[in-house]
This record gives sequence, structure tokens and C-alpha cells, in this order.
Amino acid sequence: MDVKARGLRGRDFLSMSDITLSELDQLLDRADELKRDHRAGRLRQSLRGKGVGLIFRKPSTRTRLSFEMGVFLLGGHSAVLNPSEMQLGRGETVEDTGRVLSRYLDALMIRTFEQEEAERLAHGAEIPVINGLTDLEHPCQVLADLQTVRERFGGLQGIKLAYLGDGNNVANSLLLGCALAGMDISVACPPGSEPDEGILKRARGLARGRCKVEVTADPRRAVKGSHVLYTDVWVSMGQSKTAGYRRKMRPYQLNDELLSAALPEAVAMHCLPAHRGEEITDEVLDGERSAVWDQAENRMYAQMALMESLMG
Ligand code: CP
Ligand code: NVA
Repeated sequence: MDVKARGLRGRDFLSMSDITLSELDQLLDRADELKRDHRAGRLRQSLRGKGVGLIFRKPSTRTRLSFEMGVFLLGGHSAVLNPSEMQLGRGETVEDTGRVLSRYLDALMIRTFEQEEAERLAHGAEIPVINGLTDLEHPCQVLADLQTVRERFGGLQGIKLAYLGDGNNVANSLLLGCALAGMDISVACPPGSEPDEGILKRARGLARGRCKVEVTADPRRAVKGSHVLYTDVWVSMGQSKTAGYRRKMRPYQLNDELLSAALPEAVAMHCLPAHRGEEITDEVLDGERSAVWDQAENRMYAQMALMESLMG
């Protein structure tokens, strides 16, 4: 069987750098096709008889529903698993949990704190494990984001994305995703809130001089020449921050003033949930140039394509 037909069968998706550029292109093409097929009422039951476990150590609206509905629409079964109601909460190791769940299920998704826990689950499991958000990365979000950027601009190469605010899990996965796709990325954040150093190094390696990877404290510099202005919450799940931190973040708010300093065709993106009036204004979120609702919708199609590919 050739590599293309095999897809990502049996592999894990724990980081945006777990896939190649051609695998990314194939996933996004398939996500577009699934979206068209769903709208036309002609989806195939490609996950019939398959089971997917969804483990959540943190809250979720979009990830949970988009995975559950995605599995359902393709004819499979999903089970939402709450660690506090599992033996995980009573000391069973995450590796043993992965090993046992592999006897019932065909793939696992985990949303947790440490990236290391997702890696340990993948180590124990004999089935693909998907990162549904850790403190380090949110690769499923970025798959849907790249699908959305392609829809808006017809391609990814040559597009510039400016990320404004906290250099968090979403910023980290965007760095990897943009570098992989050949997009310029400029992350604007206050000193002390930069993205992960190891991720930045990996992103620069992926870019290989094809595109620019930049971190700056100057939001206007980031926004200049950008097609996409992206932001996320200033305080991620599991963090607590001071009023002083919020004051430092204020110049990075995605508002009309910054949007008007970008290209005339620029769109605003946010992974949601948004804290209106903090990292993004109502005017931008609800405005004509907002792509956020499409991003949320595309989560389902990007993840359907991913699950099909991982489960063969
Ligand atoms: N964007 C995102 O992952 O949303 P949820 O936290 O609602 O899943
Ligand atoms: N950075 C945010 C993303 C939420 C989807 C968080 O981790 O809370």
C-alpha cells in the first residue's frame, strides 16, 4: 500500500509537528471534502464499528461536541471519560489505562495539563492518541484554523499570521502549523509571556527559511502586512494571573485599531472561548472580518479527517 493510501494509520497526533506538509495538505483536503459531503447529505460511514474514548481533565465545549458529533456522523461510537470517575483517579497509571482502553477502543483523545501525560498515555496505548489540548499544545485547533485560512485565502503559502497576546498552547501549535505550511508568523507578546522556547526552535527548523518565524513585543510590527490576526485568552485553563499581568496585556488586545493596521483583506481569528473586552473587542468578534465561527465549525471536519486517517 502506498504512503498516501495508508494515511496516518496507527500513529499518534500529539503535536502539530507530528505530521509532514503533504500529510497536512491531505488532511485539509479531506476536511473540506467531509464538510461538502455533510452539507450535501452524502457522508459515508467510514468509522462504522469504531470506538473513540474522549478523556477530559479540563472543561470543553467545542472539542467535546465536535469530536462526539464527528464520530457519530461517521457511524462510530464515542465515550466521554472523566478521570475522576475512572480508576485513574484512584491511582491506576495512565499507561495501564491506555493499554486497557486499547482492548475496547480504536482511538483515544485526551485533554489534560502536562504534555507528558498525553505522551505517557500514547506510550501505554496500542491505538492512536490525539492531543485535545495540553498546557503545551492544541494541535486539533490549529488543523481547523489552517482549514479556515485556506477557505478564506485559497491557500496557505505566502500568508502572514500575527498572533497577539499570551504565548500559550494555541500560540505554540500555531508556530508549528504555520512554519509547516510555509506561512509567515509573528507572535506579539509582552516580555515574560513568550511561546515555549523548544517549540520556537522546532518551528524555525520546520520553516527552513521558506517562511518567517518571529517573536516581538511590538503588536504593530506583528500586524503589519498580516492576512490573519489571531488571539486567545490571556489566562488559560489552570492558570491564575494578577491585575498587573492584565495591564501588561492590554496593548495586545485585538481591536479595530490593530485590525485597521493589517492588510485590508485581513480576518480576525480566535479559538474561543473569548473573554470579550479583554483579548478581543465585541466589534472585532462580531464584525464582518471575524472568521471565528467558521473556525469553531471546522473543528468537527478537521477532526473527522484526522480520525479517519489515524484509524485507517
Ligand atoms: N477551542 C476549544 O478547544 O474550545 P473548547 O475549550 O470549548 O473545547
Ligand atoms: N489557551 C486556552 C485555549 C482554550 C481552548 C486554554 O488553554 O485555556
